[in-house]
Amino acid sequence: MTNSEPTSRFLRACHRLPIDTTPVWLMRQAGRYMAEYRTLRAKHSMLEMITTPELAAEITLQPIEAFDLDAAIIFADILPPLIGMGLDLEFVPGKGPVIHNPISSAEDIKRILTPPTEQILSPTLEAIKLVTQELEPRNIPLIGFAGAPFTLASYAIEGGGSKDYAKTKALMYSDPASWQLLMEKLVTVQADYLLAQAKAGAAALQVFDSWAGLALGQESYKRFVAPYNTSLFKMLRGASVPVINFSTGTTSYLEDVAACGGEVIGVDFRMPLGAAWGKIGFDRAIQGNLDPMTLLAPWSETQYHIDQVLDQAAGRPGHIFNLGHGLHKTTPVENVRRLVDYIHVQSSN
Ligand code: CP3
Repeated sequence: MTNSEPTSRFLRACHRLPIDTTPVWLMRQAGRYMAEYRTLRAKHSMLEMITTPELAAEITLQPIEAFDLDAAIIFADILPPLIGMGLDLEFVPGKGPVIHNPISSAEDIKRILTPPTEQILSPTLEAIKLVTQELEPRNIPLIGFAGAPFTLASYAIEGGGSKDYAKTKALMYSDPASWQLLMEKLVTVQADYLLAQAKAGAAALQVFDSWAGLALGQESYKRFVAPYNTSLFKMLRGASVPVINFSTGTTSYLEDVAACGGEVIGVDFRMPLGAAWGKIGFDRAIQGNLDPMTLLAPWSETQYHIDQVLDQAAGRPGHIFNLGHGLHKTTPVENVRRLVDYIHVQSSN
């Protein structure tokens, strides 16, 4: 934490300080639902856009120029750090991320590299510097991010997305020593990456554990995930910026997720926000939790769900409005504009 009080709505909410109106930003706020994004994407591959600092900076700022958002998130992805660790990642149009040489043995895990961020991800650090130069005069904070070890391990082992996480869980349950080594290597690389993003100018950090909750029950989460997330969040205290701990599908053991760390807990849409906040504890900030698909409905229906989220937050300090997961690529741009403006008006003091 900085010594002086932050002035932006978003950072004030992270610290549970009083604010004039609820801050809002949206996961995947830069992306295919925006025509400006699709124009650039037609000319460049996903990895080109991420590794060219000027392009990544431009895409980061597209939703900031278009909407009255309270925070930006650096344009990148959770998977590129795996390239530096020795995995061959490709974003295949229409299919999503593919890893051509997935981990399949203890030997593979021993070979996984842990290079420093400056060696493998410096374009993202450059992009952060470019964006913060733009945003600082406007007092809009930039969020840096990375994947949590389980979610990254699942891609590294499955070779892409998965419905049942069979290979990941087979390795986890049958060779706990190798699992531990892989998770420790991921913690090393992600902690270094996140700390470097804060040093480059990110005013907050979000850790995405998108799949642990969909794959694992409480007991397995506690044994095979929580120890590593806890050590990651402990290392991030050195960044002196607020950290958001986001996961999905963890409703039934949200208190164990929150116990791992983070000033802010990001929750999905599966539980009313008030109940989720009760499990986390009202002494922590919360981020969420509109179902992104409600933005595909007529405005009156979207509005109903926004009102529900705001009612659940009940004006307590420390609520950051967001979705329960990323914006869908078919979301009408006009609905995003309406959402952001409606939240600011509706929750103003
Ligand atoms: O939020 C933002 O605006 C910042 C950018 C961002 C992206 N991915 C850009 C992206 C962030 C924060 C992510 C995180 C991410 N990436 C997660 C965690 C969040 C979540 O959704 O649970 C995960 C699991 C990934 C991995 C990933 N990247 C997948 C599964 C896919 C394919 C699915 C899809 O929507 O196409 C991607 C590709 C990706 N990452 C795109 C964008 C804008 C689409 C790429 C394209 O233009 O084709």
